[in-house]
Amino acid sequence: MAATAPIARHLLPDGAAVGKGGELTVAGVALSAVAEEFGTPFFLYDEQHLRARCREAVAAFGPGAAYATKAFLCKAMAALAAEEGMTLDVATGGELAVALAAGVDPALLVLHGNNKSDEELAAAFGAGVGRIIVDSFEEIRRLERLAPAKGAQRVSLRVTPGVEAHTHEFVMTGQEDSKFGFSLASGAAAEALRALHKVPGIVADGAHAHIGSQIFRLDAFEREVAVLAPFIVDNGLTELSVGGGLGVAYLNDEHAPSISKWAEVVRGACASAGIPSSVLLSAEPGRAIVASAGLTCYRVGTIKELPGIRTYLAVDGGMSDNPRPVLYGSGYEAFLPRSPDAERPLAARIVGKHCESGDVLVHEAFLPGDVAVGDLLVTPVTGAYGFSMASNYNRLARPPVLFARDGEVRAVVRRESIEDLLRLEP
Ligand code: LLP
Repeated sequence: MAATAPIARHLLPDGAAVGKGGELTVAGVALSAVAEEFGTPFFLYDEQHLRARCREAVAAFGPGAAYATKAFLCKAMAALAAEEGMTLDVATGGELAVALAAGVDPALLVLHGNNKSDEELAAAFGAGVGRIIVDSFEEIRRLERLAPAKGAQRVSLRVTPGVEAHTHEFVMTGQEDSKFGFSLASGAAAEALRALHKVPGIVADGAHAHIGSQIFRLDAFEREVAVLAPFIVDNGLTELSVGGGLGVAYLNDEHAPSISKWAEVVRGACASAGIPSSVLLSAEPGRAIVASAGLTCYRVGTIKELPGIRTYLAVDGGMSDNPRPVLYGSGYEAFLPRSPDAERPLAARIVGKHCESGDVLVHEAFLPGDVAVGDLLVTPVTGAYGFSMASNYNRLARPPVLFARDGEVRAVVRRESIEDLLRLEP
């Protein structure tokens, strides 16, 4: 497909449609109406799309389906994932607190983290989380001090399988040279399991690995399972988590495997590796649940044509609401919601309003030739690691998070105000 083709439908939320006058609607809501009510920029999610992906994960992994909250978390999202039958992976005391504030049953929570503080572990024990993923020998010593001896806290061991996924170095985690987990190859994982078996109040019955994020090639997960299998079988463990990492399409010509396909391949790998079917297979998708359910809508503020160089188009957000292009060189598409089916012949660089040249949202975007100052502009597939990694750089207020459903839109996180920006200061 030519880069200048209209935006591809598979990058848009399930509930996206072309409404009256050719304008984009999501779950029956026109983006221009949302902009009028809530201002710009805003994150908009199709609630039914989120629910559908959660259901797909639960159908695929059953009680082993955990939503990785780091991808996108607020109380509404935590409650939604739990309502749809997922457990929740939380990686800090903050994520734990949001899930608890949303009313999620603590038994459904799995606490991660390579450097959990005493306070975070105490909060986990206090709440009664379902499982803790143990990451270091230091953490085992902390558990010896903090675990209520009469309890039966289930824990899994985070292991590094030595599998290199084909993805960006910053989000690759399965290789031996990693800050996460215990190495299988060196014997550290076996030693950690022996140590955990001696800690009163701890039941160490699972293994967990996470090989990276934005992975398209499912054979990486097959290799992960093959490497983990002897550890599971030899130690009689009852849960294997393959972590998250399933990739999503960000660009028109990209296509990612579905959650169902991922589960099918992983299950097949477990069977081939001789892992008994009684072992609970779990997975922690984050991005695959939320990325394409969400989009970001900005307003175009300036258009600068530099003859013989390029056209710069500046919007009213930037690296503070989407740091992924700057951090990982991630590519995005852009289009005008007033004409989602239009060809996009105009090459432009979409930049934000921050005080640095690196503040780029789309390096090489293609837009309809009639794009003008004042237009709404959408970057789709921003539902994962956008809001969750947003900052207040240049004291920009973070955009609201809106959920659309059945023709209605509601703010699940309101827009920050100037008062919010000042609230921590005496
Ligand atoms: N489980 C564990 C232990 C993880 O560390 C992660 C992601 C996940 C699950 C979920 O991975 P997902 O299914 O979303 O790929 N900020 C980066 C992604 C960092 C992922 C960190 N860990 C980005 O924007 O691409």
